[in-house]
Amino acid sequence: MRIGVLTGGGDCPGLNAVIRAVVRKGEGVYGHSFVGFRDGWRGPLTGDTVPLDTAAVRGILPRGGTILGSSRTNPYAAVDGPSLVRENLAAAEIDALIAIGGEDTLGVAAQLHAEGVPVVGVPKTIDNDLSATDYTFGFDTAVNIATEAIDRLHTTAESHHRVLILEVMGRHAGWIALHSGMAGGANVILIPERPFDFDKVCAFVETRFATHYSPIIVAAEGATPIAGTLVTREGELDAFGHVRLQGIAQVLETEIRGRTGRDARATVLGHLQRGGTPTAFDRWLATRFGLHAVDAVHEGDFGVMVALHGTRIDRVPLAEATRELKTVPEELYNEAEIFFG
Ligand code: F6P
Repeated sequence: MRIGVLTGGGDCPGLNAVIRAVVRKGEGVYGHSFVGFRDGWRGPLTGDTVPLDTAAVRGILPRGGTILGSSRTNPYAAVDGPSLVRENLAAAEIDALIAIGGEDTLGVAAQLHAEGVPVVGVPKTIDNDLSATDYTFGFDTAVNIATEAIDRLHTTAESHHRVLILEVMGRHAGWIALHSGMAGGANVILIPERPFDFDKVCAFVETRFATHYSPIIVAAEGATPIAGTLVTREGELDAFGHVRLQGIAQVLETEIRGRTGRDARATVLGHLQRGGTPTAFDRWLATRFGLHAVDAVHEGDFGVMVALHGTRIDRVPLAEATRELKTVPEELYNEAEIFFG
């Protein structure tokens, strides 16, 4: 078989580990050949390919980013997009496609599969918000980076008796904030799933100062006040119609200063969470996803996504995997709340 591979959406650590595993097993065990498509769905949409073989994937296991490039291109938002994709796949003599991506990239994969394109999906995203898998790769690395940032903020908060607010990514799910906030001993964790009250946050700040420690607030970018709206970068929508989130830490800084008179400062962690080398867990998970994705292709089992359940890798229908977002359940947030204030 001749198999196309693409990586779409926001990059994350572990993409290269998947590509390496797919190619090493696909070529070495099954004798298949591979073609890389550049920049997510833009590759098949425009016929932009890059050679992909075992030599091309040597040494990429620990490297962040993706050797194939990525984009948020949506073929369904382009004129004749899906037909162009099909034509370009035929022109490159592709028998099957492996799409590595999050909700959007895999949503396109699910639609194309419903229209007859043989595709297998691999779940990636630092947000960990895909419901059919216990974890996506990239998440563990992002959590570790955010936790290290919290550890570092603690020392400055203590030295200067300040309130330090860390804004982390995650879009409409609070997973990164919850895990890093718990691991880093945050004073308050704010997530999109639980709208927050400024007065309560300020009360936690004061109880923390009363114990002679300085508060660290971890806020997911999608966290919203009870009587407020999402803080977004005005007017910016991507090809999938998503707003760009950013700014809740700044809003908290202003409110906390105004309401408590304390010195408060915001840090936005941004793309530092997505860059650099993957953790051992993410390399392990990404590698196993890659091995199982190429097995699915070899067996002709299309329209599925590989998923982690416990320590097992299963296959789930792509349509089901992309139907709803996995958000933080109430009971997990309640556990974290024990440590607030
Ligand atoms: O989905 C991954 C993610 O990093 C989100 O957490 C974040 O909201 C978004 O992508 C940022 O996207 P971009 O890098 O395109 O601004």
